[in-house]
Amino acid sequence: MLAASLVFIACVAYWWWRHKNVKATEPPDLPGGWPVVGYLPRLLTDSCTLWNRLQEVSQEITELGGVVRITIGPRTLYLVTDPEDSLTVAAACMEKDAYYNFGKAWLGHGLLTAKYAIWKNHRKFLNPAFSQILLDTFMSAFNVQSKKLVKYFEKEAGKGFFDHSIHIRHNALETICMTALGVDFTDSNLNSKYVQALELLFNTIVERFLKVWLHSNKTFGWSNLKKKHDACISILHNVSNTVLQKRKAQINQNNDKKGIPGTKFKPFIDLLLELSYEKEVFSDKEIRDHVDTILVAGHDTTATALMFTITLLGSYPEVQEKVFVEIQEVLGEKKDVEKADLTKLVYLEAVLKESMRFFTIVPAIARRLKEDIKLKNCTLSADMTCVVFLFGIHKHPIWGEDVNEFKPERWLAPDCPKVFSAFGMGKRNCIGKTYAMMSMKTTLAHVVRHFRIKADHTKMRVQIGVMIKSAAGHHISIEKRPSATII
Ligand code: HEM
Repeated sequence: MLAASLVFIACVAYWWWRHKNVKATEPPDLPGGWPVVGYLPRLLTDSCTLWNRLQEVSQEITELGGVVRITIGPRTLYLVTDPEDSLTVAAACMEKDAYYNFGKAWLGHGLLTAKYAIWKNHRKFLNPAFSQILLDTFMSAFNVQSKKLVKYFEKEAGKGFFDHSIHIRHNALETICMTALGVDFTDSNLNSKYVQALELLFNTIVERFLKVWLHSNKTFGWSNLKKKHDACISILHNVSNTVLQKRKAQINQNNDKKGIPGTKFKPFIDLLLELSYEKEVFSDKEIRDHVDTILVAGHDTTATALMFTITLLGSYPEVQEKVFVEIQEVLGEKKDVEKADLTKLVYLEAVLKESMRFFTIVPAIARRLKEDIKLKNCTLSADMTCVVFLFGIHKHPIWGEDVNEFKPERWLAPDCPKVFSAFGMGKRNCIGKTYAMMSMKTTLAHVVRHFRIKADHTKMRVQIGVMIKSAAGHHISIEKRPSATII
């Protein structure tokens, strides 16, 4: 009892000392935090309420000038929603925060979780794999996969509401395996196992984040959560090892390293294997880390963004009709979307950007500050963590009075703010953003030209995890368009 009292007194004294010693140039504290534990009690809630709470917090930050300090348990962080200050932080700091270490046992030195010193080198070697010339060769795969999704959807047409997120997620996983990893992942058993393990692993990571006493590797190691976490990782690593072995065997069989027989593209993994065989840039473990990173970052994101976009199209029939008319004008009688068509689908691009503004699926990024960062009205101190609320930037008043409305037309106006942040900001932004836009546009073109969608996004319960998602799938209904022939 005495020991507990002493620890409590020491915590209060430390908290009081820290608050007394705040520099005058620091941003203001977010009001409403408790002594010692700060905001932690307000964050200990279910994932849907947490998402609503974070949106309120984001609005408060914006009202306070766009940058605040917040204490969450033992840590004090900066939170930023101001678009200009967010860009300054993202441009100046490329070291990820320690929170990303929660993904290290799974993703190792993959780009998402790598330390800056490793990231800088690896990103330079991997950028060419995402060049426009290589991405253009994926168009055939994007079309094949989109038509496969249309066939799945056809089974649901005219039958009332169904959960479209399931079909989209499996389809997106197959697409990334085909294009980036060069293997057919239609084996539905492996595919389902992967999707289930991934969902569980995300849940364990979020639970660990909220239970601050599990942040230390020691306490986490003693917990039951670690057992669940390791079991999921072992399934995911088993899948990536299988994918790698398959591709290595294919390459050895063909005795060359020039793409997959029967296809016109060279998958990303071939570049990784080349760099490791010929230039010894990557170790076997690092290749596996990149494969794991691309597998998750390359499918769960596009699947979630497509789920939200299709739901929004179903909720705004006039937007959907405009998209349909544009697709008909651009594609005419053609069965497939060609790379030149993608640039002509201007309204569809506006819809996708507006959907990712409205539902910013990667809600935040967190950076460790190596040095003091001077912002417009304050200075952030070195060795602290700064969390940029990407969704907060997208709901900032710079978007105008209609900021809370879904309005794709805003992207076609000359004065549209240039702070689209769904793919992150600065040099450490999303390496797959062009891939994502190309694959999502192709999928939507096929889906909208075949079906009329109905949905109501206001009935959707959104929850926050590593990304924001619909709490229990979301239900749309579709009707086949009279003119549509499914091939
Ligand atoms: C709608 C789709 C997507 C969204 C919204 C999205 C969003 C993001 C964001 C916000 C980041 C920055 C994360 C951070 O700083 O912590 C990021 C990084 C990354 N994304 Fe994406 N992404 C998408 C699709 C993709 C695709 C299709 C791929 C791969 C084919 C991909 C691969 C990556 C990788 C490897 C990184 C780490 C980049 C680095 O640190 O160098 N993403 N993404």
